Amino acid sequence: MASITIRNLDDEVKDLLRQLAAENGCSMEEQARAMIRAAVEGRAGQAGRIDQIEKTLRALTDPGQNATPLSVGSSKPSIRGRLSGKRILLIIGGGIAAYKSLDLIRRLRERGASVRAVMTAAAQEFVTTLSIGALSADHVFTDLFDRNDEHDVGHIRLSREADLMVVAPATADLMAKLANGHANDLASTVLLATDKKVLMAPAMNPKMWSHPATRRNRATLQKDGIAFVGPAKGEMAESNEAGEGRMAEPLEIVAAIEAMLDERSKPLAGRRIIVTSGPTHEPIDPVRYIANRSSGKQGHAIAAALAKLGADVRLVSGPVNIADPAGVTTTHVETAAEMKEVVEHLLPADAAVFVAAVADWRTANAAGEKIKKVAGEGPPSLKMAENPDILAGVGHHSQRPGLVIGFAAETQDLISNAQVKLKKKGADFIVANDVSHESGIGPSGVMGGDRNKVRIVSRSGVEEWPEMGKDEVAARLAALIAERLRTIVV
Ligand SMILES: Cc1cc2nc3c(=O)[nH]c(=O)nc-3n(C[C@H](O)[C@H](O)[C@H](O)COP(=O)(O)O)c2cc1C
Repeated sequence: MASITIRNLDDEVKDLLRQLAAENGCSMEEQARAMIRAAVEGRAGQAGRIDQIEKTLRALTDPGQNATPLSVGSSKPSIRGRLSGKRILLIIGGGIAAYKSLDLIRRLRERGASVRAVMTAAAQEFVTTLSIGALSADHVFTDLFDRNDEHDVGHIRLSREADLMVVAPATADLMAKLANGHANDLASTVLLATDKKVLMAPAMNPKMWSHPATRRNRATLQKDGIAFVGPAKGEMAESNEAGEGRMAEPLEIVAAIEAMLDERSKPLAGRRIIVTSGPTHEPIDPVRYIANRSSGKQGHAIAAALAKLGADVRLVSGPVNIADPAGVTTTHVETAAEMKEVVEHLLPADAAVFVAAVADWRTANAAGEKIKKVAGEGPPSLKMAENPDILAGVGHHSQRPGLVIGFAAETQDLISNAQVKLKKKGADFIVANDVSHESGIGPSGVMGGDRNKVRIVSRSGVEEWPEMGKDEVAARLAALIAERLRTIVV
């Protein structure tokens, strides 16, 4: 099936797709596909089908027109009661996106959660305690030294009486405070004093988000186990500003909260699993690099599927254009050398799944300045050096995880290459996929596409899985990992 390029859609359509996808627990591409599929299937005649597609696409921009074909599954449970009895402590920071926290409270309460809000002094410049209190139907907490709230050490009680802390919007300032252990107002003190899980939904100007200080703080918070949802790319409230920094939509935040509080069977609870995903970029000079076509879709889907089964997932991602999976701790890297360092730092772990398409070679000496094109001199020759083999390094490591899984993307001799890799790299399984044009998997192929056809190669043989969506491959692999870890004593 052809891939759908979401970024080419209008912002209005994108926003709606994002919300529907979050409601249905699927990707935006899957949501769009489901809608188009629903429009195409089972209609009489070509003209009727075109009409139906037009109607569906019109409904994307005007949801009031359409009530039927929007959900991916036909028997989707009602949203009512999905968070029944859950207590959310919502910390609202001082950013323009604070207005979205009003909708977030509504969405959480309609799912049965109770919401108690803490507002920073800056947050009260953007939205009032009156409206937050009216929507949450509770007192709004603002002051660390409030005589009424603090007679029984209110900041500790606020944490004790919550199932989950959600910071939305998480300002650059709140992130910096928590990353550095500051506790000089109620919000930061509650965050430091809690033993509950914390989910942050950052929102800020793209320059603030990409500032090295904010990147450092995010990395520290992720290492400390704080989960993140968003931010997304898009238009900023400030005119003429666009980029990464928009707060995730309320329904995306709700989906992340639901995933974090999901109490269904969690066979991987208490297990730490490392996943690598995406390509690596190996610099030639400050502006050029060697890369590959990996999109990170399969690796990110595996990280999300493992998190759904309760694992503490540490995702190490190369540069990709997709969002960090909810409920997963993600570290972003560029090069193979950086990926290796982060992965080894994350050991020990119960399992490691190496999905990333790590470059085999890098340039031996990346130029410090942009290589200039000089007339008459011809192209520069690149001297290459071998990159570290991260899978083999972990497969033979003194702290080797109980289960080590590698991916092999091959264009020829798929099985025999995977069998050699299995032995040489000390892996338990190799998930082999044919990334050649002959794989038969749609025009976008396996790399970058949404579907995959894999074989699981182990010492006991080769298991062939049918072609399926990358999310389905991920769910099946996560179940296999859960099953294997059940029988491994580590
Ligand atoms: C109009 C305006 C909009 C702002 N928007 C943001 C924002 O979106 N994200 C952010 O991190 N800071 C933003 N700031 C800066 C914060 O309000 C400021 O850093 C404040 O100290 C944050 O306090 P808090 O973290 O205690 O809520 C904004 C400031 C102004 C005046």
